[in-house]
Amino acid sequence: MKIFLDTADVEKIRALAATGLVDGITTNPTLIMKAGREHKSAIVEICKIVKGPVSVEGIGTTADELVKDAREFSKLAPNVVAKVPMTAEGLKAVRILEKEGIHTNVTLVFSAGQALMVAKAGASYCSPFVGRLDDISEDGMALVAEIVQIYAQYGFKTQVLVASVRHPEHVIEAAKLGAHIATVPPDVFEKLFKHPLTDKGIRQFDEDYRKALESLKGRK
Ligand code: G3P
Repeated sequence: MKIFLDTADVEKIRALAATGLVDGITTNPTLIMKAGREHKSAIVEICKIVKGPVSVEGIGTTADELVKDAREFSKLAPNVVAKVPMTAEGLKAVRILEKEGIHTNVTLVFSAGQALMVAKAGASYCSPFVGRLDDISEDGMALVAEIVQIYAQYGFKTQVLVASVRHPEHVIEAAKLGAHIATVPPDVFEKLFKHPLTDKGIRQFDEDYRKALESLKGRK
């Protein structure tokens, strides 16, 4: 399973990519705004740090506008993936861009019907937003299960990219369901390493190692 970081914070990306476990990046206009960076220069820098796919969202509503923006962004680095919204115009743009060899990630997917259309359009990635569904008392992971089943049934090549992840349990559920990718905020990435019993065990081993050394010294 691949894990992407869902952020445009260049310093965080640099620090966490050093683990060697960051397979890609997803950004959106909100994340770029939060990072307080000029869009294009931030993307160029991110693409140098992470060699995997880096999703970049343009603006526009018509297929023509979306294609124009995606072509511009794709010139910034070879690993740029064009993020397009889940609309009929967005999927028209997907068909054009994928034919040109520009990979696409369809964002803001909230139903299995939408996900089916994304795969039929030939997108490289489909991004169901699980946290936002949970927020309105729907079941985000149930949607992921439906999409994984439908894609497997027909052998669609589109990868399921679980987005709007809020906690490690979302990642674990996504992995159990066989989703290809989860894109996670930096704090969730960091939490995936953690368990209080690991910390307790490390402290205990450390203490016992020191005690053993002390008692050996005492015997000399
Ligand atoms: O990848 C999509 C993500 O950025 C949306 O997350 O937490 O704003 O729903 P959130």
